[in-house]
Amino acid sequence: MKIATVVGARPQFIKAAPVSRELRKRHQEILIHTGQHYDANMSDIFFDELHIPRPDYNLEIGSGSHGRQTGAILAKVEEVLLEEKPDALLVYGDTNSTLAGALAAAKLHIPVMHIEAGLRSFNRNMPEEINRVLTDHLARWLFCPTDTAVANLASEGITAGVYQIGDVMYDAFLYNRELALAQSSILDQLNLNPKGFILCTIHRAENTDDPQRLGEILRAVSAAPLPVVLPLHPRTRKIIQEQGLSSLLGSKVQVIDPVGYLDMIALESACRKLMTDSGGVQKEAYFAQVPCITMRDETEWVETVETGWNTLAGADSKRILEALASAAPPAGQPPIFGQGDSARRFVSIIEENGERQ
Ligand code: UD1
Ligand code: UDP
Repeated sequence: MKIATVVGARPQFIKAAPVSRELRKRHQEILIHTGQHYDANMSDIFFDELHIPRPDYNLEIGSGSHGRQTGAILAKVEEVLLEEKPDALLVYGDTNSTLAGALAAAKLHIPVMHIEAGLRSFNRNMPEEINRVLTDHLARWLFCPTDTAVANLASEGITAGVYQIGDVMYDAFLYNRELALAQSSILDQLNLNPKGFILCTIHRAENTDDPQRLGEILRAVSAAPLPVVLPLHPRTRKIIQEQGLSSLLGSKVQVIDPVGYLDMIALESACRKLMTDSGGVQKEAYFAQVPCITMRDETEWVETVETGWNTLAGADSKRILEALASAAPPAGQPPIFGQGDSARRFVSIIEENGERQ
């Protein structure tokens, strides 16, 4: 098959790495980078470290309001699809690049494949929720990471073309963990002792765009019982500067630039606990068997909470600090994200069903 893949944001490069590797063994892939993320440490570093093939097209869309960014990607992806005439279009997750890519293809009657389909927070204030719901309703093939995702689709009447393949991020994590532990020197660089620090990430719009929520989170981070390492997303760095909130960050917080994936795995594997509002990092906490405190009011990754490895603490400094103090996951972990063979399963399914779709 000839498959056009649209990626644009950091987590999509990581998800695409194992899938592209598997897909290209027997199929042709045209890789389209929308340019939604463009800083070297938000984009190029992942292509280099994960040996992702260079994009065939970089649309260089850059940042913008939701409508402007989504619309610009839609128009440019359409041009590429008209030129390339792929058999299908593959998108990941829930960003503006995901929705714009899916919409461009669906309008041209090119079947859409959605990896990480069926996730729901049931919070329509999140841009990601709008992107996911619409992408799932445009998709012909829906690849779900969890049973909950399959059930979410069923409750919206989507049952055809739905496959539970596990989570491709687990494939990526397993593939790169040994490399990360052998190669990364980030602990030495930052002078960190294994299990002697907390790792934190903050970037979700519902937190960064609300000064009250962001202030509460920064207060909690500063009052954490151990030193905190905070690789800061450019969105959050910009808003902290604009809002004059940097004084809320205490001396025990090490703010650093976003790190590459190998350094991130090394930090996740060595930290005592994780504080985050990221989707991917919640899952990686589970993969690394580290307790996670999620600074959101809901999560799409409900299994991580149900199994006792993740605690929802909202954006309330008291709740976050209580969760940090009390997080004590049980021994053992059920395999809620599959076996690390999701990319292979994805390719087998499209090969088995390609003729019939
Ligand atoms: C996007 C996704 C979000 C995902 C996240 C992963 C949408 C609506 N949101 O959020 O679901 O979790 O990516 O990280 O698609 N910026 C830079 N350099 C970059 C990229 C961004 O400085 O390379 C800054 C710009 O000021 C930009 C802001 O970050 O306006 C937000 O970037 P954008 O891509 O719009 O959204 P994210 O917050 O990154
Ligand atoms: N990540 C990274 N460096 C960082 C922060 C995150 O490599 O400084 C990785 C992280 O390991 C995970 C992915 O980026 O694989 C998560 O992306 P992000 O948190 O930006 O988005 P989300 O998953 O919330 O959509």
